[in-house]
Parts: sequence; structure tokens; C-alpha cells
Amino acid sequence: MNLKGRNFLDHLHPALVRSRTLSPMTTLGFGIACLTCFVILAATGFSLFLYYIPDTSLAYERILHITTTLHYGGLVRSLHFTAANALIILSVLHLSRVFLTGAYKGRVLNWIYGLALFFLILLAAFTGYLLPWDQISYWAARVGAGLAESFPLIGPEAQRMVLGGTEVGEETLLRAFAIHAAGIPMLMVILISLHLWRIRRDGGLAAPEKDVDRIPAVPWLYRAEGGVAFLTFAILIVVALIFPAPLYERADPLHPPNPAKAPWYFVGLQEMLAHSVFLGGFVVPVFILFFLFLAPLLDTSPSPGGKWLASDRAGWNSTFLLILIGQTVLIIIGQWFRGPNWSFRIPF
Ligand code: HEM
Repeated sequence: MNLKGRNFLDHLHPALVRSRTLSPMTTLGFGIACLTCFVILAATGFSLFLYYIPDTSLAYERILHITTTLHYGGLVRSLHFTAANALIILSVLHLSRVFLTGAYKGRVLNWIYGLALFFLILLAAFTGYLLPWDQISYWAARVGAGLAESFPLIGPEAQRMVLGGTEVGEETLLRAFAIHAAGIPMLMVILISLHLWRIRRDGGLAAPEKDVDRIPAVPWLYRAEGGVAFLTFAILIVVALIFPAPLYERADPLHPPNPAKAPWYFVGLQEMLAHSVFLGGFVVPVFILFFLFLAPLLDTSPSPGGKWLASDRAGWNSTFLLILIGQTVLIIIGQWFRGPNWSFRIPF
């Protein structure tokens, strides 16, 4: 490799890295998979940006045009859709890996950057959901905005800010587009850069023992990362080809589907709210937020970060798993077991 190329790579990783960095069990490759999704989203998003118009009378037809008449338009749109959903799932898996290995220890700032990234990912997915302006996206956005309103104190104000008023309409679409296609991508580029830079500043990945066994990053670490990125890309392409991004009838503000559901990642919240506005819309979400933000500060267990399911962190890990499994079950119930008027139904 020439000297110039080598110098550039030296900015990404140090010349020598701990050998455990390359062990698949250390990170499970989720961070790199998230990064791959983001790059795919930026590339496909830019292509869609060239053809989309954020106007309620044109948006649906533009999406139809992209999907049905442009060369590879359908594939680009499906890849964008698949990568967006994959990024939500992969960032939860990455966050879980970091939590369950206690890798936030001594890395509080990077954990906070990570949480900020996670909320931006959710907001990006939510604002993108509205853009096709079809029945499902329109009503999902209306339900989602309703969920935001139920949050005490800041809820109504947050809802007005996102909607540009009190109803989903022209202003909302314009805002959603600006936030989705400009604001969030810019913030994410900054935060991802800070996130990756912090890993180096913190001395590499959290490691349970002070191992001195080091190997050159070139070519081993880059090969491993390239392999994970390629695998992620290949899986996303296959999924995008098998399951094209959906497009339903044009949005009709007068005829809500029954039930009108939030996007799948907020359906757990919708399910909780259906049981109790106070408990489901306030107590549980606030508890989860505090738990995630404060865990690295309050977790004083002696084991060093980087060890899977350390026994002295049993309380922290079980609470985290309880939240994770609870939210997953609620999403499954809301997504597949709820019928008209939110009544319980068996989907098969
Ligand atoms: C777009 C989203 C994200 C990207 C691209 C990303 C990328 C990465 C990468 C490449 C690593 C190196 C190790 C690995 O692959 O696991 C990493 C580590 C880390 N990430 Fe993320 N991440 C994202 C979101 C998050 C989230 C949501 C959190 C948690 C709230 C988080 C917290 C951390 C922490 C604390 C580390 C250091 C872990 C250690 O030292 O072992 N990241 N991230």
C-alpha cells in the first residue's frame, strides 16, 4: 500500500489494535452494520431527493413515478426503506451489545452520543414514513403525532413543532421533508464522526483485561470491517428485492383505516397508551429514558467494561433485558394482534 493511503487509514484506526477487537463476539459487528446502513441510506436518499417533491398534491404521484417508471427506481426506494428499518433494529442490537457488556464504563460521553443517534434514527424513520403520502403513512404519522401529544408538558409543543400546526397537512409534509432530508442527515454525520473519534480517544473498545496481544490493523481489522459491511449490504439487497417497499392508496384524511396504527417502532408505545395514558404514555417511557441515560453514571459495579453479562451487573442487565423483551412483546402485540377498534385478534 502506498504511503498516502496508509496515512489516511491511520486516521481511522491506530496501526496496532488489540487482537480481541477482531473476535466476532466482541462487537458482533453491529456498529459497522449500522454504519453500512447509514451510508446506504445517504446514497439512496440522495437519489430519491432528486425526484421527490414535498407537496401534498404531488408527493404520492412522484413516489409512484420513482417506483414504476424510473430505471431501478423501485429497487433504490426499497433499499432505502429496508436500510431504514434495518438501522432501527441494528442500532437496538448494537446498544444492547454495549449495555450487556458494560462497555459504556469510562465511555459515558460516547454512550450519550449513541443515545442521541438512536433518537435521531427514530425521528428520521418517522419523518420519512410520511413522505409517500399514502393512506398508511399519512395515518401512521397522525397516530404518531397523537402519541407525542400525550407526553406531559412538552408533548403538545413538540407535536406542534413537528406538525407545523395541529393537523397533519401541507406544513407537516414540508417540515418532515426538511427534517428528514437535511436536518437529521447533517446532525447524524456530525454525531457519527464524534462517536467514531471518541472510540479512539477512549483507547479503543472496552476490554476486560489489559491484553498486550496486538495485531496490525492493516489488513486484518479493515478486512473484518469490510466483510461485515459487504455482508450487511448483500443481505439488505436480497431483502429489498424480495420485499419491495409498500405503497398503498393515496392519503385520504377523511377515511382513517381501522385500526390506524403508528409505525411499527412506535406501536409498543401505542399499545401501552391503549392501556393507560399516565402509565403507558408517561411513567414507563420516562423510566426507560432515565434508565438508559443514567445507567453509565449509576452503575458502580467493579467489573471492567467489555465482559458479556458480568455477574456483578446482574441487576442492570436483567432490568435492561426486561425492558427490551417487554417492548418487543408490546410491538408484536400491537403490530399483529390488534384489529378494528384496537380489539384483540388472532392473526392466523
Ligand atoms: C448510527 C448509529 C451508530 C453507529 C454507526 C455506531 C457505530 C459504532 C461502531 C463502528 C463502534 C465500534 C464497535 C462496534 O462495532 O460495536 C461503536 C461503538 C460504540 N457505540 Fe455505537 N454506533 C451507533 C449507535 C450507537 C448507539 C445507539 C449507542 C448506545 C446508546 C452506541 C454506543 C456505543 C459505545 C458506548 C461504543 C463503544 C463500545 C466499546 O468500547 O466496546 N452506539 N459504535
